[in-house]
Parts: sequence; structure tokens; C-alpha cells
Amino acid sequence: MTDIKKGLAGVVVDYTAVSKVNPETNSLLYRGYPVHELAATQPFEAVAYLLWNGELPTDAALADLRATERENRALPADVKAAIDLVPLDAHPMDEVRTAASLIGARDLAGNGSVLEAGGSVEDNLERSVRLFAVLPAIVAYGQRRRRGEEIVAPRDDLDYAANFLWMTFGEEADELVVDAFNQSMILYAEHSFNASTFTARVITSTTSDLYSAVVGAIGALKGALHGGANEAVLHIFDEIGSAENVNAWLDTALAEKRKIMGFGHRVYKRGDSRVPTMKAALDALVEHYDRPEVAALYDTLESEFVSRKGIYPNLDYPSGPAYNLIGFDTLTFTPLFVAARVTGWTAHIMEQAAANALIRPLSEYNGPDERHIEGYVVDAAVLAAAERPAEAQ
Ligand SMILES: CC(C)(COP(=O)(O)OP(=O)(O)OC[C@H]1O[C@@H](n2cnc3c(N)ncnc32)[C@H](O)[C@@H]1OP(=O)(O)O)[C@@H](O)C(=O)NCCC(=O)NCCS
Repeated sequence: MTDIKKGLAGVVVDYTAVSKVNPETNSLLYRGYPVHELAATQPFEAVAYLLWNGELPTDAALADLRATERENRALPADVKAAIDLVPLDAHPMDEVRTAASLIGARDLAGNGSVLEAGGSVEDNLERSVRLFAVLPAIVAYGQRRRRGEEIVAPRDDLDYAANFLWMTFGEEADELVVDAFNQSMILYAEHSFNASTFTARVITSTTSDLYSAVVGAIGALKGALHGGANEAVLHIFDEIGSAENVNAWLDTALAEKRKIMGFGHRVYKRGDSRVPTMKAALDALVEHYDRPEVAALYDTLESEFVSRKGIYPNLDYPSGPAYNLIGFDTLTFTPLFVAARVTGWTAHIMEQAAANALIRPLSEYNGPDERHIEGYVVDAAVLAAAERPAEAQ
């Protein structure tokens, strides 16, 4: 009997130097640095640079990256037009996926790289920076158009996180809010061979191009078991209403064998290493916006669920309510995850391309036994070829 690793659980498929998840010590390192240290000290741009290049940037390198990021921030008119074609009641992830696909097609067209679509390391680094720079405009415009609001042009005097909030809300955010948002971007940036990153690596392994890999990853991230979970947490909060309803709600949900979104993790079984940092940012936002009832619901559901099931929150649990307090619509949460994770995806795409092996696992067949089309007479030549010894074929 073949030992099937359903869902590839526990299977190590390759090396990576991008990040290390250690469920035993409950730690997550990006290129060796603990993620909570990065979140406490770095702007997201510096973490993006670290993921791509392996080292934190010097002041000059950070200034260079920031200059390129500013140059590529605005939403190109044709990409905006393509977004406008997406029905307003489609999921915004469909919008982000469509925009990323068009950006790729425009960029790759006419560069003669159809047969060598993978591109050089320099090409892929430039593409990664440009995608990273334009994604906030795509996400911000998505939320605005769903609210019937006009697009807001980027501001050159603001760094990545502050400008992202500016383009979304059309007003300058407080420093505390920018800091909480910046931390969430860093915490979401990278997480080893998760489903979307692995999707990007599979696509890259066929020597397809970086954009196709990112578009595939966006599709994988859309699902509720992966990126869609932070959105689902808010739906649960809306259903429960307030802390005093938690017990009754949980009784029913568990009796119905529902999965409680924002809890559990394939790798971490004793708690997600990113949660304490994001929870501290959420607490700061709760105080800033004076919304203690959010913290009460959060804490009650967490302690009840942990005591009943022994399953701990993952990053989506604190980030959902944090994004809600900042003012993001629930449907925008997963697109925000894309804007953050594109850094990790592209770092992995470049790593995969640099030491490539086609990713092609095997399967164990469990369909019907061999059978034949009634009345079909096999051609003698075909039969002879099929019966030839393997080494002669
Ligand atoms: C993330 C997730 C898919 C990991 O799943 P996994 O490693 O495949 O673990 P399983 O789904 O096999 O879960 C093992 C057991 O815990 C239970 N469980 C895991 N997460 C649960 C949750 N969030 N709510 C209720 N039960 C849960 C499962 O029902 C299963 O119970 P069983 O053994 O009685 O059937 C899963 O925990 C989940 O669906 N969580 C909710 C979605 C989410 O927050 N995703 C974001 C991940 S960062």
C-alpha cells in the first residue's frame, strides 16, 4: 500500500533560505531575523528588500527602493479600466488577480521572452518591485469603487504604509494606525511553503513567468482555508455580535461541526508566532478608537475556544478586527494580504528559478480497472507497439 501524504502534510519538498518556521520554539525568521523584531523596528519596504536580497538595506539602498516604489505607485489608466470591467459584486480578489494578470501581459509583451518567459534575476527583481509598488493602488481603488468613491492619487511625501492608507481613505492616517498597518504587512509578508507560495513555486518550476506565478498564488490565497480566513473572522464577529453571546454561539457552531475561522494552523499546533505582535497592534488600535467591546469579544471567543478545543488563534484572528478598526471593508482584507505576501511570493519565485527542478509529484490511481470501448478493434500496429518491451520504446 502506497503511503499517501494527503495534502502533502509533513512532506519536505525543497530547501529555502527565505524564511524558517519553527513550530517547536514558536518562532518565525525572515532571512534569520525574528519577525517580531522586524515588525517592531523596520518599515515594510526594508523587509521587502530583505526578503528579496537576503540582507536588510543600507540607508542608500532603502532610499533607492523607496524612490523606485514611489515612481511605480500610480494605477496605470489601462489597469484601472480593466478593474472597472470587473463586476462590482465580484470578489475583490478577482479584481486583484485580473489587474496582476494585465500588468504581466503588458510588461512581457514585445520583450521577446515568450520562449524564455522565466526572465533573468535582474528582470525578476525589477518586476517584483514594480508589482509591490502598484498593488496598494489596486487594493485601495478596489475598496473605493465599491463604496462609489473616486480614485485617490498617491502622495510622494508619504512612505509605503502611510501612502497605502492615504490612497484608500483619502486622508492622512495617525502615526499609531500607520504603525499597526505597517506591522501587519510585515507579519503577512512571508511564511515558507504555504499553499499560495507553493503554487507560485510550482508555476515557476515549469519556467513560466513571474506574473503567472503571482496570479496563480492570488488564486490560491483567495480560499477561506488560506488567505480568506481573516475575512471570515469578521463574519464570525458579526454573527456573534458581542462577548456575552460567545458561549451559546460556540455551542451551536461546534455542534454543527463548523470550522472556526482564525483558529488552527497546519504547521503551528501550539500557537502562531505572529499572533502576539498583531494582538499588541490590535490592542493599541482598540484604545486609539476607543472600542473596548471589540477586545472583549476577541478575548472571550479566544479563551472559550482554546479551553474547549485546545486550538490556538492564527494571524488572521487579530488582523481581521485590526483591519476593521482601521476602516477597511471586510472584502478588502484578503487583497491586503496579497499586497503583503507578494514580497514573499516573489522572493520564492526567484529562489525556485535559481535552483529549479520541475515540481511534478505522483498519484496512486483508484479509478475503474482497465476497460474498453465496445466494438472498437485495436489497430495491429498500435497493439504491437504497446506490447513491445519497455526498453525498446
Ligand atoms: C488551517 C487549517 C486548514 C489547518 O488544518 P489541518 O492542519 O489540515 O488540520 P485539520 O483541519 O485536519 O484539523 C485537525 C482537527 O482539528 C479541528 N480543527 C482545526 N482547526 C479548526 C477550527 N478552526 N475550528 C474547529 N475545528 C478545527 C479539525 O476539525 C480536526 O478535528 P478532527 O480531528 O476531529 O476531524 C484548519 O485549522 C482550519 O481550517 N482553520 C480555519 C481556517 C483558518 O483560520 N485558516 C487560516 C490559516 S493561517
